[in-house]
Amino acid sequence: MIESVKGMRDILPQEEGYWDLLEATVKNIAISFGFSRIRTPILEKTDLFVRSVGKQTDIVQKEMYSLKTEGGDALTLRPEMTAPVMRAYIENGMKAQIQPVKLYYIEPCFRHERPQQLRYRQFYQIGFEEIGLGGSAVDTELILIAHYFLSKIGLDNYEFQVNTLGDENCREGYVLLLSEYLKSNRRSLCEVCNNRVTKRPLSAFDCKEEKCQRITRMAPKIIDSLCEPCRTDFKEVLELLDEVQVPYALNPFVVRGLEYYSRTVYEIWTSRDGELDSQVSLGGGGRYDGLAELMGGEHTPGSGFALGVERMEEALKEKGIKINKHSSGVVFLAQLGFQAKKRAMRLLSELLLEGVRVRSSFARNSLSSQLRVADKLEAEYAIIIGEKELYDRSIILRDMKTGNQETLEMKDLVPELKNRLNIL
Ligand code: HAM
Repeated sequence: MIESVKGMRDILPQEEGYWDLLEATVKNIAISFGFSRIRTPILEKTDLFVRSVGKQTDIVQKEMYSLKTEGGDALTLRPEMTAPVMRAYIENGMKAQIQPVKLYYIEPCFRHERPQQLRYRQFYQIGFEEIGLGGSAVDTELILIAHYFLSKIGLDNYEFQVNTLGDENCREGYVLLLSEYLKSNRRSLCEVCNNRVTKRPLSAFDCKEEKCQRITRMAPKIIDSLCEPCRTDFKEVLELLDEVQVPYALNPFVVRGLEYYSRTVYEIWTSRDGELDSQVSLGGGGRYDGLAELMGGEHTPGSGFALGVERMEEALKEKGIKINKHSSGVVFLAQLGFQAKKRAMRLLSELLLEGVRVRSSFARNSLSSQLRVADKLEAEYAIIIGEKELYDRSIILRDMKTGNQETLEMKDLVPELKNRLNIL
């Protein structure tokens, strides 16, 4: 039997309620904050990611699904959305619109990572990007949107880990300093970090090996190497964050796995039993004022974040938030005897026309087996029609939670159900 591709999963009907919640929340927030949806192609030119995400990053070095067309084009299944969105902004002349242009997306991305819990090879991102006008207030607005989004869906066990990466004036000096420090501790670092020392020293902060963490915790911090404008900018971001009361912590070790960032960066970590989980972040983002230039465009400030849909779904489940949209307000129609079945068929169409969510199992004849199905479907009520009810023009309404049964006149059923189930 042919199975699905490793690291890729089916999103099953029982998950739909969570996805609907996330999509509806994004759409509401987008309307409130004035963002419009953008959809970009799943395939992009490989060079787009090599130049923006960065040649030395894990994503470009190991994780891209790339292919060559017969015509010789090198293409890649997008591993993230920020570079494609910036490309679309430039290519479609969005510079002519009121700035910043505010865009959001709900899209699948692809990374050939080692499959682990909540690390998939196809996963969905919900993201917000503001392009064309930058600054500390834009960064803070975006962090606020992410916070607002997560609270709206019902999460509260997360914290923003905020850092700055400086800009082209001060970062280089810091990276050199860090590289020298790491070189002087080379013997205590793992093999991977030894390779990182000159190529991409910042990524040593992401190493999970304890011996490397012991060294990186003592490393020089970027905050002490910032140029004056970057220092002021970061101070403003933090002051604004205090103002809007977002749960955040300063974390000098958050450097992000993509190279296009400058100044503010952040990750959103969840906490379990009071412990923050740095391994599977709910989301991440930051400012990318230099991204357009990396892609060969002109200077275009930008800032944004993306949240992992599968990870939010899991966080909702872990919190015990149950969403089964198919069971809420469901009524089960049960019948006993052929004449009752005929009447039930007619009632079914009447109820559907009135907007009642009706389920039935006309293929089953015994009442107990039909009620078992009603139970499985988590129906709120069962309507029971037998020969006697047919004769009396009545029905039995059974509350599936309590088991209480009452007899109603057939003509009162629809208004009564609509009232109880809040159907307009
Ligand atoms: P990222 O941190 O690489 O940032 O990904 C953002 C989020 O996508 C992660 O925090 C995580 O929730 C989810 N994610 C990433 N990889 C996987 C995976 N293999 N399986 C499941 N979920 C995953 C970016 O992609 C940036 N483009 C974010 C951004 C937007 N920066 C500025 N604007």
